[in-house]
Amino acid sequence: MMKRIAVLTTGGDAPGMNPAIRSVVRYGINQKLEVMGVFRGWWGLINEELKLLNHRSVSGIIGQGGTILKTARCAEFRTEEGQNRAYETVKKNNIDGLVVIGGNGSFAAAHEFYKRFNVPCVGLAASIDNDVNGIDYTIGTDTAINTALDAIDKIRDTATSMERIFVVEVMGRESGFIALTVALAGGCEDVIIPERPLDLNAVCHDIVHGNLVGKMSWIIVLAEGAGRADDIARQITDMTSLETRTVVLGHVQRGGRPTAVSRDLALHLGRSGVDCLLAGKTDIALGFSAGQIAEVDFKTAIRKKEYKIDEYCKLIKVLT
Ligand code: F6P
Repeated sequence: MMKRIAVLTTGGDAPGMNPAIRSVVRYGINQKLEVMGVFRGWWGLINEELKLLNHRSVSGIIGQGGTILKTARCAEFRTEEGQNRAYETVKKNNIDGLVVIGGNGSFAAAHEFYKRFNVPCVGLAASIDNDVNGIDYTIGTDTAINTALDAIDKIRDTATSMERIFVVEVMGRESGFIALTVALAGGCEDVIIPERPLDLNAVCHDIVHGNLVGKMSWIIVLAEGAGRADDIARQITDMTSLETRTVVLGHVQRGGRPTAVSRDLALHLGRSGVDCLLAGKTDIALGFSAGQIAEVDFKTAIRKKEYKIDEYCKLIKVLT
């Protein structure tokens, strides 16, 4: 019977991890479980950095970005030795199951750990990149998109006023999801993403043609996985002879108060994660899909995500 579980946050932090931890801890305790918090993700499991949490341990964190448990990228957990040490911690502390809050890198690691040691693992999809396959929305996506959108709206003010071209680089690792969403919602003229070949000639042609008919400002959203803003801007200037400015939004997209959508998702997933462990389910990631909480096995979740890229690209073009 499941008596004690542990919760950890791993990989890049995402706004909403804290409400997810709160939900796992409080709902877990409500279900008569003991809940341990592991510090700094897999590193904490390897180094036995963990402690029992109670109701009060998660007070006042529901609106905070980041993660009170800290997080890390842990190369050591990819080694057998690292995993063996982590398993020692699990055994020594009588942990019956793990709730892993993170993205697809975290799930790949959790899948390996489950395969080797049969420790029940349930993942709560949390990553600003929204790149977990089989899941429409992860914890943090909505907040990161709104942060980037707020920046783009502000850049629009100056771009329009000074009639300039801007290349705005957003995060997303190998995914263009943030870029596509903010390009559409921000009324941006073009978007460059890793999932599609880059045709800078076409972008420049549009800019020059736009200039001829009196459209003088452009915002091109660039997903980090498709190139560097400075390189793209330099090429645009070379090809059009027009001054091009750059903004790299960077880690600002990872921080800030989670939006209502990110909190709501986190709180529901936290409860579902505990329920799954209690029901004997394991090796799965939970996220929001088609209007409800979806359970996706880790093997599927870590594959390249498919989503409606063409629809986004077409709509951005039509609405420019
Ligand atoms: O996975 C989240 C993310 O913010 C990516 O968008 C980005 O590529 C990466 O993490 C940056 O990681 P780090 O903060 O370790 O440099």
